[in-house]
Amino acid sequence: AQQVTVRAPGPAELADSPFLRACRREPVPHTPVWFMRQAGRSLPEYRKVREGIAMLDSCRRPDLVTEITLQPVRRHHVDAAIFYSDIVVPLVAIGIGLDIVSGVGPVIDEPIRTAADVERLRPLGPDDVPYVTEAVRSLVGELGAVPLIGFAGAPFTLASYLVEGGPSRTHARTKALMYGRPDVWHALCGRLAQIASAFLRVQVDAGASAVQLFDSWAGALSEADYREYVQPHSARVLADLAETGVPKIHFGVGTAELLPAMGEAGADVVGVDWRTPLSVASGRIGPDKAVQGNLDPAVLLADPHVVEQHVTRVLADGAAAPGHIFNLGHGVLPETDPDVLTRVVELVHERSAQPVTR
Ligand code: CP3
Repeated sequence: AQQVTVRAPGPAELADSPFLRACRREPVPHTPVWFMRQAGRSLPEYRKVREGIAMLDSCRRPDLVTEITLQPVRRHHVDAAIFYSDIVVPLVAIGIGLDIVSGVGPVIDEPIRTAADVERLRPLGPDDVPYVTEAVRSLVGELGAVPLIGFAGAPFTLASYLVEGGPSRTHARTKALMYGRPDVWHALCGRLAQIASAFLRVQVDAGASAVQLFDSWAGALSEADYREYVQPHSARVLADLAETGVPKIHFGVGTAELLPAMGEAGADVVGVDWRTPLSVASGRIGPDKAVQGNLDPAVLLADPHVVEQHVTRVLADGAAAPGHIFNLGHGVLPETDPDVLTRVVELVHERSAQPVTR
């Protein structure tokens, strides 16, 4: 079992936060909780500051990034902040033409489908995203003992958007390239691995305390194909981060069959969607990794007693794992009542409270 140490110790309080302790599988005073997509359309204060400003423009404004990242921390008292940005921001930064269309997702001007197209993906450097460095520095100052999670999209998920030209249910063109032109596929993913790795490195160097690698759509693949076509590239991203010492979270949706392979890619914490109970997931992943998840985001649309039942069940199940970070199985749905999110944080903290034995 490898020991994770926090690279820039900063205030001892930060290193000792429940979130970072759980990442390291240490005892916690209460189960830490945060939500994927906690910043965003479920919050009226988010919709207000975003009025008339395009998503990608907002990501390049450190004042807005700082404000939007802090909003859910102030409102819900979550145990971690996640940097407000998007997985496609580093692609825009190297000159790929794309837009984030509301209600749709990223849409690419000229999809990447050939060896010549792959050449358009140049390496990302810190100078390409100065606004990220600035925003992370400002956030770390504001957050104090609350950890900031940096993130990037993993090669497969980024490749899917680039090859399809936008969101896809089947990932058919992506798989056609992967199976039909493995040479082009591996060249593409190699470049995306560098981009993801550099984007994470910028955030960690500016003070992020942990990172999450989002391979949201990896669940579209069989385990054998995941291991052959995807895992080496994601493993490289996570290996590049190893020397920083920050905990690494690896997440995808529909990944029940991939959980061990995603852990083996080099994660300290594996994210689990709502389809697999955390006890089962942890059994598959093994004792040397913590788990994160896995309340169905749609449960938050149900009556309070139903939400409470599900929160209780996730906590009980998570207790079987060597470390548990409470989260949803995927992002907060925009129609979620933010008061329900606040209540879930309170419930998680109350129900899991215990004296720390050190
Ligand atoms: O709170 C947070 O989670 C931090 C910010 C964050 C955003 N995107 C902001 C955002 C994070 C971590 C992401 C990652 C991301 N982006 C992923 C991986 C996570 C996942 O959901 O699986 C993916 C696949 C994307 C691509 C993307 N960007 C999608 C599918 C969408 C939604 C499109 C829509 O309108 O339904 C976006 C846009 C986006 N990214 C929004 C936010 C807050 C909404 C845009 C808006 O508010 O106008």
